[in-house]
Amino acid sequence: MRWLCCALPPVAMLLLLLSLSASPGTSSPVNPCCYFPCQHKGVCVRVGTEGYECDCTRTGYFGTNCTSPEFWMRLRDALKPSPAFYHFILTHFRWFWNIINNTFIRDTLMRLVLTVRANLVPSPPTYNSDYGYISWEAYANVSYFTRVLPPVPSDCPTPMGTKGPLQLPDAELVAEEFFLRRTFRPDPQGTNLMFAFFAQHFTHQFFKTSGKMGHGFTRALGHGVDLGHLYGDNLERQHQLRLFRDGKLKYQMVKGEMYPPTVLEAPVHMIYPKHIPPEEQLAVGQEVFGLLPGLMMYATIWLREHNRVCDLLKEEHPTWDDEQLFQTTRLILIGETIKIVIEDYVQHLSGYYLQLKFDPELLFGAQFQYRNRIAVEFNQLYHWHPLMPDSFKIQSEEYNYDQFVYNTTMLKDYGVEALVEAFSKQRAGQIGGVPNIHKKILRVAIGVIEESRLLRLQSFNEYRKRFGMKPYRSFQELTGEEEQAARLEELYGDVDAVEFYPGLLVEKSNPSSIFGESMVEIGAPFSLKGLLGNPICSPEYWKPSTFGGATGFELVNTASLQKLVCLNVKRCPYVAFRVPDDNGEEASAEPSGGSSSSGKKGPSTEL
Ligand SMILES: *[C@@H]1O[C@H](CO)[C@@H](O)[C@H](O)[C@H]1NC(C)=O
Ligand SMILES: *[C@@H]1O[C@H](CO)[C@@H](O)[C@H](O)[C@H]1NC(C)=O
Ligand SMILES: *[C@@H]1O[C@H](CO)[C@@H](O)[C@H](O)[C@H]1NC(C)=O
Ligand SMILES: *[C@@H]1O[C@H](CO)[C@@H](O)[C@H](O)[C@H]1NC(C)=O
Repeated sequence: MRWLCCALPPVAMLLLLLSLSASPGTSSPVNPCCYFPCQHKGVCVRVGTEGYECDCTRTGYFGTNCTSPEFWMRLRDALKPSPAFYHFILTHFRWFWNIINNTFIRDTLMRLVLTVRANLVPSPPTYNSDYGYISWEAYANVSYFTRVLPPVPSDCPTPMGTKGPLQLPDAELVAEEFFLRRTFRPDPQGTNLMFAFFAQHFTHQFFKTSGKMGHGFTRALGHGVDLGHLYGDNLERQHQLRLFRDGKLKYQMVKGEMYPPTVLEAPVHMIYPKHIPPEEQLAVGQEVFGLLPGLMMYATIWLREHNRVCDLLKEEHPTWDDEQLFQTTRLILIGETIKIVIEDYVQHLSGYYLQLKFDPELLFGAQFQYRNRIAVEFNQLYHWHPLMPDSFKIQSEEYNYDQFVYNTTMLKDYGVEALVEAFSKQRAGQIGGVPNIHKKILRVAIGVIEESRLLRLQSFNEYRKRFGMKPYRSFQELTGEEEQAARLEELYGDVDAVEFYPGLLVEKSNPSSIFGESMVEIGAPFSLKGLLGNPICSPEYWKPSTFGGATGFELVNTASLQKLVCLNVKRCPYVAFRVPDDNGEEASAEPSGGSSSSGKKGPSTEL
């Protein structure tokens, strides 16, 4: 560099400096799509060297930037209630909903919820992390996670397009300032650890970032509820886990109770620390589930359920071979899962008084595509690590992270009943609106931010717009307070430059709610599309014979969390996704001691 400064005449030097620091546009033209000019889901296409066009087809808007509404759109915009308004209605007036619950209006509203939400997710899928335009490769190559918004073009002046700093604030700093828990904040909705571990267990069938291919790629090629976390994400693994008798999965009996087999009996790759001998490593569909007793507890419950349903089916169909019993049981368990997720899990999470209903027939008259592709944005937003408590309370004992993580004896020491009861009674943390991630798992959140930068995710506000919400105009409006808002402003400069995941976590939460508006409005569409887009919900599949007849169909249509647990244990414990009503207390335990955790994470997991 030094010779350059002396070799160039001062004037040339000045020009060079000017062109380096000058606002983009005076030198080489800025890609106009970096301004994200196209509104209302219009598609930005670069034309010539400096021009662009917005494709407003079927958006209901026209004009250069798709900003002028057509007549019907103007009317709709004028009449459409805001998300905050209908959230308020749905979470108040219990007496009103108790009436609605028992009328046909329940079905009408449920249909509306499903269609309005699911329509926000493009199907067939559109972009991915390598293709910011529609392409056959993006459609056909299912190794990619899809994405709803294309990446920020790589030639933009700033990481967020044109807004915000040239270099985003250090991810670690963002996490420490805005995510790190000072004192445990219990979730006001009463969410418990039973819910937290269900979330983690359930989502890790479709969130499996590929270690080999890297960010933006998945190993879960089923892209939805395929129960790959029970059966493995490929045929070879499934075969290792199967008993090949009566459709069942391999198991071991301990003190008269059924547990997953060890890796000696079912030789599949599981991620465990080296010091754990193979006779203590349990073999299940998802390779990371040895990480937490809560995950292995759910794996055990579902294993028992699988083998229980096999027995029921075999009784009705003594002529069926192992393969048919296995395959039909798998479909029944997929159905049970979707039923439980909608009617227990989402019901709890939403806080709605409208009683949600899993009934695929609601959509048979509507336009709906029975397919799904998991999006990178869905994966990002589902990092609900604030749920995790400071310590884990089981009966009269309290375990810190070091005692809990990769504890291979705990499940068998206590048994499923005791763990279910303990997790159902311990409150989880609030997810949004307050810094609430335990220091032991903060690095996961840092990883989320880093990934989003690698993948060039668009800003939080662009996602708000995409999912039908107004962008925030100020940092105060985003956080609903002053202090964090001021710090965010220092770091990001412009509210339009706030990143996706940080935006979701710092957004003010809905009143007495686990998180804010954006997590609901962006998360729900992905979730419902994924659940109802399952092939078992299609008219061709959704009939008793698919599930082995009336008995199997009934299992699906009456499944609940309570039954899932209590039909597979000897003594039925307290089981729910919220703490019991008399259990509002929460001694805010001090963070467990010990030095900060080292990389406990297996390769390519997002736990
Ligand atoms: C369209 O958007 C661009 C970029 O935001 C802006 O400069 C331009 O004025 C807009 N054009 C119209 C007609 O609104
Ligand atoms: C999908 O794309 C990746 C990246 O280009 C490539 O390595 C992989 O082979 C593709 N998969 C298929 C099935 O073509
Ligand atoms: C809906 O109504 C039923 C019957 O009145 C009631 O048991 C249930 O609690 C209601 N659901 C909700 C979510 O309020
Ligand atoms: C694992 O949990 C058991 C209780 O079931 C406890 O006694 C043991 O100390 C824990 N193991 C470790 C390594 O902390």
